[in-house]
Amino acid sequence: MPSLSVFGAQWGDEGKGKIIDLLARDADVVVRYQGGSNAGHTVIVGEDKYVLHLIPSGILHPGKVNVVGNGVALDPLTFMDEVDGLRERGIPVEPENLRLSTSAHVILDHHRKLDGLAETWLGGGRIGTTGRGIGPCYADKASRTGLRVSELLEPGRCRERLSAALLEKNALFAGVHEAEGLELEEQVEKYVAVGERLRPFVCDTGAYLRGAHAEGKSLLFEGAQGVMLDIDHGTYPYVTSSSTGANGIPSGAGFPAKHVDRLIGIAKAYCTRVGEGPFPSEEHGEAGERLGRKGHEFGATTGRPRRCGWFDSVAVRYALDLNGADGWIMTKLDVLDSFEKICVGTSYKVEGEESLTYPVGCADLNAVEVQYEELPGWQEDITAIRKYEELPAATRAYVEWVEERVGAPIVMLSVGPERDQVIPRGL
Ligand code: IMP
Repeated sequence: MPSLSVFGAQWGDEGKGKIIDLLARDADVVVRYQGGSNAGHTVIVGEDKYVLHLIPSGILHPGKVNVVGNGVALDPLTFMDEVDGLRERGIPVEPENLRLSTSAHVILDHHRKLDGLAETWLGGGRIGTTGRGIGPCYADKASRTGLRVSELLEPGRCRERLSAALLEKNALFAGVHEAEGLELEEQVEKYVAVGERLRPFVCDTGAYLRGAHAEGKSLLFEGAQGVMLDIDHGTYPYVTSSSTGANGIPSGAGFPAKHVDRLIGIAKAYCTRVGEGPFPSEEHGEAGERLGRKGHEFGATTGRPRRCGWFDSVAVRYALDLNGADGWIMTKLDVLDSFEKICVGTSYKVEGEESLTYPVGCADLNAVEVQYEELPGWQEDITAIRKYEELPAATRAYVEWVEERVGAPIVMLSVGPERDQVIPRGL
């Protein structure tokens, strides 16, 4: 298999976990390069359900090497909990199959605390973050005040950097938020101890990945969140704090862009979003409620109900185009099984003007009016179908119509949560 980038083409929760788990069979190395434990990738294997936040989904396959790259915001406590949880369930997790970048920035207690306090401070303007400390960690990375994994491995350095960080953060907690500060010694002890547990996994993951590529190994880059939550290209400021598309790979993995051979976006047959921020095709009525119920749309990380709406071809086209996608995978098609009519957003009306292009720079995306077309539903259970030709004619008509609107080939369909519930279409 060539080296592949798989990324979300909506607002996250596109069902990437299952697809990456499936593609991991043919890869040698699976890589996370951005985000952190704000992600929740759900993989169902027979009777077993795994929710992975930090460790790549390839961990469930024997013999694969899983890499947490330098661009990940690493919560070391969550990472070790995940390692322990997998081991308890009989999944081998060893330095041979899990490697952690020495340069990944670390989410510390003060980042999680600040995430919550900043949201309260923003009040009505809050982002609706997952509360995992992602934004404050990346902010410190950019401000050059953060701690990296390598610093947790050196007690003296860890104390020095934590002491400087807490001086500033405790002043902020007390002066702005009227909140209690964190105690340095307690924090040093806690993070040096977890650093010791991380140590066996830590290496220069960029060098490892470049070497693996040179040896002819195939790499699978697992995007977290989705392009519409990208820090640069998403619905800013209602975004996460990393580069969520294939654009994040070179810097977040230390791997040259020119060696990523194929780029595949993932989008649901409808659309969801969690947290605040514009969602042009959101359905507030019965259709939205029904999509949420049928699609079990609750966050894997926070349990929050997701906002639901119809497929938005303007947003997906933008996301795929931005990343130069070779094709995309449509997931959760079966959720539409019972609908008599299915709507698809085909264009936006922005200040009275119809547009097929995503309005980057539009000050108020909430004011955008989505124009829809209505297609007939198929009202048949498609979850047991494995061949494209065997799908009902109305399902194929829907798929092909959406594909044409989006302008990029659909290379696979997913029709249920199980590993084998997919319909190949050229991948
Ligand atoms: P943060 O990443 O926790 O800072 O949250 C910023 C925004 O991204 C919020 O709207 C979150 O709901 C959203 N977000 C973060 N991670 C995910 C994810 O994995 N799926 C969907 N939305 C996410």
